[in-house]
Amino acid sequence: MGSAVGSHTPSIAAHPRLRVDDECAQESGVYVTGIGRTKFGVLPQGVPELLYEAVSNALEDAGIDYTELDAAYVANFCGGPFVGQLHLNSLLCSLLPGVHIPIVRIETACASSGAAFFQAGIALSRYRTILVAGVEKMTGLDGLATSYNIAMAGDAVLEGGQGLIFPATYALMALAHMERYGTTLDDLALVSLKNHENANRNPLAHFYHKRVTLDEIKSSAVVCTPLRLFDCSPVGDGAAAVVLSAERRSDRDVKVLASTLATDTIAIPEREDLTTVPATRVAASQAYQQAGLRPSDIGVVQVHDCFTIAELVALEDLGFCRAGQAKDLVREGRTSLSGDIPTNVDGGLKADGHPIGASGLGQIYEVVLQLRGDAGERQLENVEVALTHNIGGVGGTCAVHILSRG
Ligand code: COA
Repeated sequence: MGSAVGSHTPSIAAHPRLRVDDECAQESGVYVTGIGRTKFGVLPQGVPELLYEAVSNALEDAGIDYTELDAAYVANFCGGPFVGQLHLNSLLCSLLPGVHIPIVRIETACASSGAAFFQAGIALSRYRTILVAGVEKMTGLDGLATSYNIAMAGDAVLEGGQGLIFPATYALMALAHMERYGTTLDDLALVSLKNHENANRNPLAHFYHKRVTLDEIKSSAVVCTPLRLFDCSPVGDGAAAVVLSAERRSDRDVKVLASTLATDTIAIPEREDLTTVPATRVAASQAYQQAGLRPSDIGVVQVHDCFTIAELVALEDLGFCRAGQAKDLVREGRTSLSGDIPTNVDGGLKADGHPIGASGLGQIYEVVLQLRGDAGERQLENVEVALTHNIGGVGGTCAVHILSRG
């Protein structure tokens, strides 16, 4: 079993142009100046239409024309197998007629758009205005083909070749956590209930207005023991986009205080401990260091809850509690909208949805809304700082971002 965790976290804050000092604190840095997204869910649109909607919304929100963009990144996990569409950087260019800016596609499984956001932040040392978009079209195939495609994010031999699809790998994680820490099925159901309730306040969510009770969650079909239907994120379509600027453009801009990406081995059999995700721990500790903040400073957190157990493990690895104690946060309501660690306030991947290549930017979209005070029915009070956590596979990749009011 290997235990090495490689990490690659060029420090945005360390770049002279981006350093926050007395003279330029209000001027230069990495700012989110525009956001846009589509609804997540089972949608009729294809990849170009989804991309177009999210990108148009983000540009309009930023108040700029696409001709003002210097570069772009497009995140997508599986456009080839799902819809027969690759070369998405060029496809995006087709939506931006007449420009020939550099556009690069990023793929790091479910962390694709978190990684694209990370990469764009670095590129702002060279460019002034960068578009980052993420898109996935997952519906339309049968269940077997869909699971096969998603399993490509795991090791083709050690996992896919053994039938270890993602509900199964996360089921192993859940079993290990339950055995070591006494986490229960009821704790997982409470995570699901909270996220579905939050999604009921989010008109763009996959499960907006799907009312569920704890009993329905606990008696839903078993997908892979101990995980049931309501422990899983759904298969869905969607896109999200942001415009990043190297300068503060308006009072609505949100500042990126930290941006980190850590990498780990791809397969579950290569991990020593299934109750923790080392890449999250590495990315988080570097992010807190970059931002000069602690977990207690975070006002809202969006974690990668592709399965309910993943939310608990993430809260522990991000330092919001000790290992094994996330269940107590959930039992005490501390991660709910009215709690002191509001988590996945848009419904999370569980209920807002998980169109894989768009999910990391969906998290950024939500925290920008919260920091601007534009989150409507789910708006939190006095949010100053937010954290997003986006992982690929079972933590082979992890992007962590900390953002604050501009
Ligand atoms: N949570 C709650 N309800 C769900 C759901 C989910 N995750 N997935 C589907 N449903 C609902 C549908 O809305 C539908 O409801 P309706 O009958 O009221 O319309 C019903 O269940 C059947 O939908 P269907 O699409 O046929 O479900 P399915 O059995 O084919 O798929 C899963 C269910 C759990 C297998 C599928 O959602 C899945 O594979 N999820 C995991 C995706 C994944 O691995 N992502 C990457 C993570 S790393």
